[in-house]
Amino acid sequence: MPPTVHVTGDLPARVHDALAESFTLADGVEGVAGILSVLTTPVDVELLDRAGHQLRIVANYGVGVDNVDLEAARARNVVIANTPDVLTDAVAELTIALTLALLRRVAEGDRFLRRQSRWSFSLDFMLGRSLRGKTFGVVGPGRIGRAAASLAEALGARAIFAGRSAVELDALLQTSDVVSLHCPLTPETRHLIDAAALARMRPTSVLVNTARGSIVDEPALVAALRDGTIAGAALDVYEQEPEVSARLLELENVVLTPHVASATPETREAMGMLAVDALRAVLLEGRVPPNTVL
Ligand code: DGY
Repeated sequence: MPPTVHVTGDLPARVHDALAESFTLADGVEGVAGILSVLTTPVDVELLDRAGHQLRIVANYGVGVDNVDLEAARARNVVIANTPDVLTDAVAELTIALTLALLRRVAEGDRFLRRQSRWSFSLDFMLGRSLRGKTFGVVGPGRIGRAAASLAEALGARAIFAGRSAVELDALLQTSDVVSLHCPLTPETRHLIDAAALARMRPTSVLVNTARGSIVDEPALVAALRDGTIAGAALDVYEQEPEVSARLLELENVVLTPHVASATPETREAMGMLAVDALRAVLLEGRVPPNTVL
């Protein structure tokens, strides 16, 4: 009988079929050889222990693995795979979509019209700002950060980057018109953008987050947006997902999307197929796939 795999969420049909072709799909996690986890599933000690010591791989349906207790997985010799590369362009694209929506007041204009506000064309009405000529600061110069930077450069921005060094981050915060977050969420990056970091940004600058909500101290961000420490924020991810703070919803200088950076059918299918390939590699072919974090 094929090895058993438990899936923690709904899958695109093609991914489900590919999985069902190679594995026996189990309703529960107990006794399975592999888990395909969506990124809202905490892969913690409790889940790993419920699965049992025969568990060999967790394939996470996402590039971020902050939902996985990596130490617990390491201690149990469980391979952790993720889905890099195939979502790079989709996430970079949404980063730029959010940036432009904020700078050119697209979402604000849409809300304005939906309220049936009175208006007429005039030369100084709802002026926005162009990305051309601005400094686009990438925090986390990995694949997605570099792809977002290329798109920003194609629109006439100048890209700068900050990796792990605090000095680099300080310089980036002080000089960027757009600060775009692309680092993974780890204990080191939790609240990397706190009140002090926001205070280093310029009052005309904006923050864009398509990475993970908890990289930003959300109450500090709300305060910075309210008191004019920064000019605006565009967010795809939140500290308490799927909750979005009511205080963010009230603000006009904010653009919000519901964690959809990788949400195109092609990307979601490609992510799923990469996860299935990782499960096949470990459970059927006895090899470690390239897309592992452990
Ligand atoms: C990921 O893969 O980590 C993304 O957040 C999915 O949208």
